[in-house]
Amino acid sequence: MRVFAHRGYSGLYPENTMLAFDKAREAGCKAMELDVHLSKDGELVIIHDEMLDRTTNAKGLVCSHTLAELQAFNAGTEEQFQAIPSLDTYCRWAKQHGIFTNVEIKTNLIYYPGIEEKVLALLEKYNLIEQTLISSFNHGSVIRMRQLCESMQCAFLVGGRGLANVGSYAKNFKVEYYHPDGAFLTKAAVDECKDQGVGVNVWTIDDLGLLHKMITWNVDGVFTNHCAPVLALLGEKHA
Ligand code: G3P
Ligand code: MG
Repeated sequence: MRVFAHRGYSGLYPENTMLAFDKAREAGCKAMELDVHLSKDGELVIIHDEMLDRTTNAKGLVCSHTLAELQAFNAGTEEQFQAIPSLDTYCRWAKQHGIFTNVEIKTNLIYYPGIEEKVLALLEKYNLIEQTLISSFNHGSVIRMRQLCESMQCAFLVGGRGLANVGSYAKNFKVEYYHPDGAFLTKAAVDECKDQGVGVNVWTIDDLGLLHKMITWNVDGVFTNHCAPVLALLGEKHA
């Protein structure tokens, strides 16, 4: 089962920072999940929210600031400054360390025209297409990526109770994975995806009881904020 460090090792370190990604890698995690937006000058930046307020010392919209402005804000702690990473910086690091990445395109609230083309160009620049999975709650973004690149692995993100017959829905769009909310997922939905040849990666699994259930249901991957205990439990299972 693939374990994705959700926004890096975000249970212990500031989410979506190079520190959180590197700590997850040091804990033995080989796959990361991150969220991308576009800056005012059209650069891809790694941050979860449309607004800076929750995770940085600044306020306002991410897309109202240039990359240089964004990188001066602190996404870390008072003790340890961490810049908002550019996706370019992250890709160089992922290539260097052989990390698999789920890039979540955050176009569910604000649509950034051309963001899918920019993500693809960056992944091509670093020769990272085979090591990347693209997802979004905005299925238009996922379908756009599928149109742009046949070989890109793609996933439909769905919140809450999900969609009926989501495996068949994904297969129709030649989308390889379904990314559901683990709090609402049913075994029937997993089985329907399996029947359609669609993989299932589940978020966000921090509870080890829920992890046991996901193992029993034979899902393909889980996203977790606490990658070390999840990896330890899976290691024991396979020992
Ligand atoms: O991609 C899985 C998960 O990250 C989706 O929700 O809000 O944490 O980006 P969110
Ligand atoms: Mg995400």
